[in-house]
Amino acid sequence: GGIQEEICEEVLGVLQRSPLRPSQAVWCELPSRVLLVLTSQRGVQMYEADGSTMVFWHALDVPEQPAAHSVFARGIAAAGGRFICVGTSFGAVLVFDIPPKGTNVTLSEVLEQHRDPITDIAAEQGRDGAGDLVTADDSGTLCLWSSGEEFTLLGKIPGCGSSCSSVVLWNGTVAAGYGNGQIRLWEAGSGRIRAQVSAHARWIYALDLAPLTGKLLSGAEDSFVHVWKLSRNPDTDDIEIQHCHAECVTDTQVCGARFCDPAGDTFAVTGYDLSEILCYGPA
Ligand SMILES: *[C@@H]1O[C@H](CO)[C@@H](O)[C@H](O)[C@H]1NC(C)=O
Repeated sequence: GGIQEEICEEVLGVLQRSPLRPSQAVWCELPSRVLLVLTSQRGVQMYEADGSTMVFWHALDVPEQPAAHSVFARGIAAAGGRFICVGTSFGAVLVFDIPPKGTNVTLSEVLEQHRDPITDIAAEQGRDGAGDLVTADDSGTLCLWSSGEEFTLLGKIPGCGSSCSSVVLWNGTVAAGYGNGQIRLWEAGSGRIRAQVSAHARWIYALDLAPLTGKLLSGAEDSFVHVWKLSRNPDTDDIEIQHCHAECVTDTQVCGARFCDPAGDTFAVTGYDLSEILCYGPA
């Protein structure tokens, strides 16, 4: 949000010129600065927000049998006010300490609780410890963390046979999208399950959350995009999930879906073999 068109062009230039074929690009917003973070098969690159200067570069170690396992970084999130977390194909989560300015980025910690490739990472700023980071992997396992000088594992939610392809965090609730088309909601502090819906007929590739309203966007291989609304019932403290809107992108396996505004009134979608981004306005 709030990024101007020229900046986008500059950043597209960075992506196109990069010899590393970036797999993911995220603007990480820390209180002191915004960095553009790219992951690729070779490692992690961090740029100033406008793409003008590379601030930091971290190469991934190639394991002993490089042919047996592909190496990549995936899952990017800003956490705990001054950290950027990046997941890797060997299950480790790299925690980088970001100075308020300058290039002295350091690898401050490596979180080693996952045994499978990391698929996604979500964080919620300003929750001070109480479950402000969640990491997901290919086996469907979720780890719940509190960020800080040292990151603390609060709990581990074992997978149940389906990959967890994306996670988001909202007001202490984790929403996770799975390969079997389900969305499950978990309490970030305790790991308790709060709700579950069979949202899609096939693999969910993308979830996004609108922080102002608690709207949740899901996009899947079944060519559907759904908008949901999360809310907390003040009497029972239950988390409720309500279906708001469905959109079918004909003949397209949806692989990316994002809200375009913090209230979740507009969203953008893309799919495999689609060279366009489709934008949907207020209903
Ligand atoms: C770089 O950052 C690390 C960790 O914050 C710190 O210990 C170190 O002194 C810094 N180095 C320089 C040259 O500022």
